[in-house]
Amino acid sequence: MTGPAGTELGPVQCRICGGDVHGFLDLGRQPLSDAFLDPGGDASGEFFYRLAVGLCGSCTMVQLMEEVPRERMFNADYPYFSQGSAVMREHFRATARRFLEKEASSESPFIVEIGSNDGVMLGTVRDAGVRHLGFEPSGSVAAVAREAGVAVREEFFEAATAKAVREEYGPADVVFAANTLCHIPYMGSILEGVDVLLGPDGVFVFEDPYLGDIVAKTSFDQIYDEHFYFFTATSVQQMARRGGLELVDVERLPVHGGEVRYTLARQGARTPSPAVAELIEQEEAARLHAPETLRGFAEAVAAIRGDLSSLLRRLKEEGRTVVAYGATAKSATVTNYCGIGPDLVARVHDSTPAKQGRLTPGAHIPVVAPEGFSEPYPDYALLFAWNHADEIMAKEQGFREAGGKWVLYVPEVRVV
Ligand code: SAM
Ligand code: TMP
Ligand code: ZN
Repeated sequence: MTGPAGTELGPVQCRICGGDVHGFLDLGRQPLSDAFLDPGGDASGEFFYRLAVGLCGSCTMVQLMEEVPRERMFNADYPYFSQGSAVMREHFRATARRFLEKEASSESPFIVEIGSNDGVMLGTVRDAGVRHLGFEPSGSVAAVAREAGVAVREEFFEAATAKAVREEYGPADVVFAANTLCHIPYMGSILEGVDVLLGPDGVFVFEDPYLGDIVAKTSFDQIYDEHFYFFTATSVQQMARRGGLELVDVERLPVHGGEVRYTLARQGARTPSPAVAELIEQEEAARLHAPETLRGFAEAVAAIRGDLSSLLRRLKEEGRTVVAYGATAKSATVTNYCGIGPDLVARVHDSTPAKQGRLTPGAHIPVVAPEGFSEPYPDYALLFAWNHADEIMAKEQGFREAGGKWVLYVPEVRVV
């Protein structure tokens, strides 16, 4: 496969096993997905990288072919606040309660989170009076957690920082990461850190978008700078072994368009649940890691680009008003890959104050508050936050009642 400038897509070296990663999808030149710009500011300094995805022929891990330096993405300007969704708040409350009930039986339990963000999960642990610590390098969100009384270390989790915490606090009963482990290319250092920090019967639990759902739904917008890995039970089982750990449970989750929660324990410490072998069998039956399957996915992605840009162009010719809803990181891939700018989508409504009044990365569409959505309602709204469809459509019921229509592009382009 060749890239935009006619260059071969790989192979590059797998960040898990060192094997060859061959590209199967090229999404071209992309900006940082969470780098919103100030209007009137200088856009000439906007950072771009090449977004392409490949498959490791040795360990089956699907991963990006180019890495963005972590400080460019996760810093004091990071604008993603996890508590912005009521559904996710409840999801993490339930997650914390489960840890407190099932994994916190030691004398003085200790729960660590990698990527604790604004404290959406650890807030419940703090309320229970249980020892906890969040690793959160992005100052913007770490400050919110700290103000709420959550203990946070404003630094990246890796082998060195994990060692420092083990020395200060002792072993952890749970190390948890949600929508964060897939963001971290330097997995060797992470697994070393988990090995140092985890108690003998502790669990390392992480949940991230599932490649099986991404392929089944053609949700190509899950691919952006921050999402470096696209995990499966098959690839995580191999990755775990390299870190001296064992995959002992998997659970499919409906959040964020389909995720899997993986539970890892020290080798031999826990009996693996039958769900692990079942999911691996399903992945084999679906030929999820076969190059043909992934090439088929890439073809479906190109078809969505064609369909979405034709629809938006037709609506413009017909004189319809079109806006978008949810200035998600995912939408950076959609706008920049499909060529959607302010000429096709006038503005994006989003509830995050840190995004409002700014321009979306690369495409430069103005972001405004949701309050203006009904003043007046547009004819069409492109739902970039499709993973929060139920929550947003319920909140914005008046839009449909006024005759407005939602435009969706996952799993295919459609108007509802
Ligand atoms: N856990 C929250 C959730 O599920 O909503 C936040 C997810 S957010 C998409 C990813 C978070 O991981 C960001 O807040 C980012 O700053 C943080 N992060 C990135 N690399 C990290 C690392 N090496 N250690 C700890 N946190 C990291
Ligand atoms: P996410 O898909 O990465 O979680 O991002 C969701 C984005 O959508 C985030 O910027 C917040 C925004 N949002 C709203 O504007 N209104 C809502 O009701 C919800 C749930 C999210
Ligand atoms: Zn590999």
